[in-house]
Amino acid sequence: MGQGTVQTKTRHQEPRDQEQRQKGQPDQEPTKSDRLRIHNLVTRDPRTGLAEDVRKGLAASPKRFLPKYFYDELGSQLFEAICLLPEYYLTRAEEEILRNYSDEIAAAVEGKKTLVEMGSGSATKTRLIIEALLREQTELLFMPVDISASALESSSRILLQSYPRLRIEAYAADYFAGMAELEKSERGRTLALFLGSNISNFPSADAVRFLKAMRSVLHKGDALLLGADLKKDPATLEAAYNDALGVTSAFNLNVLARINRELGGNFDLRSFKHHAFYNEDKGRIEIYIQSLLDQRVRIDKLDIEVDFAEGELIHTEHSHKYDEAGIDQLANATGFVRTKTWVDSQGRFSSNLLMAE
Ligand code: TRP
Repeated sequence: MGQGTVQTKTRHQEPRDQEQRQKGQPDQEPTKSDRLRIHNLVTRDPRTGLAEDVRKGLAASPKRFLPKYFYDELGSQLFEAICLLPEYYLTRAEEEILRNYSDEIAAAVEGKKTLVEMGSGSATKTRLIIEALLREQTELLFMPVDISASALESSSRILLQSYPRLRIEAYAADYFAGMAELEKSERGRTLALFLGSNISNFPSADAVRFLKAMRSVLHKGDALLLGADLKKDPATLEAAYNDALGVTSAFNLNVLARINRELGGNFDLRSFKHHAFYNEDKGRIEIYIQSLLDQRVRIDKLDIEVDFAEGELIHTEHSHKYDEAGIDQLANATGFVRTKTWVDSQGRFSSNLLMAE
């Protein structure tokens, strides 16, 4: 074990680690690495949260699942695959922006900076910002927050191998738990990242709640770089969420597979389908799982049976699309000012620098 060693602050290991132990791997004391610490704040038993939220979501009308449950280990990897799809232009458009303007972005916040990222995932695009910061300063502290401990572990290892002048303090947590920890931490000037189209997945009241919480993590003069997909023709938008290869469908239906795996559900995945379309009035892609027939599903660990009607929609996510006015509205409602916006060469996606006022 070298620089990638993981130290967990809490007593609770990820289930995967427990599995490895049971398989007879040596229960080694993790070698101390002064460059990486991963704090695992995901609920003790990750299944408790899932069980309660699935129970609630299936009792609601319309039925719904929470987006954070997309991202188990398989789901996180399926999302990485979505980012490679020709139809899913968002990742490439944002990467183009970061590639072209990373130095400008880094220079927009004064002085030596700490880099924070909410929902860092594989942290591939983050590399561009890390490199820009390391051109400006001799060392860098990176503080990523992600719901997936496995994604944090592998991305941290790769980053530390690439950048000897980098240190990582990572939080496996949902956004709000992660922000509560960040608020307590000692940081200098901070550049925070919220990339991809993560902001778009909140209902608008929650987007405001998120940005307010983010604002209270930051100090005046710090900044948040906010990725936001732009409104555009419905055909392009709809294709991005209905790829020909069916990866988005697999990603969406993985929520049912996860319930089967972790909660003893008996969803027949072939009796449901992915359904996504652009609601132009509301300016958002709406994503559902649709039941293809009248059916009853049993979930053993919840001890429930749930009926689905033919054609019934289970809501999984909204993906809001923005324009400048929409972003300003969000910024102004949450203690930020948008000082600069960069867009890709085809005008599809925006990276917005929101300064903490
Ligand atoms: N944040 C991504 C987005 O809104 C998430 C996403 C992409 C997604 N494709 C999806 C969520 C399909 C659910 C289903 O673009």
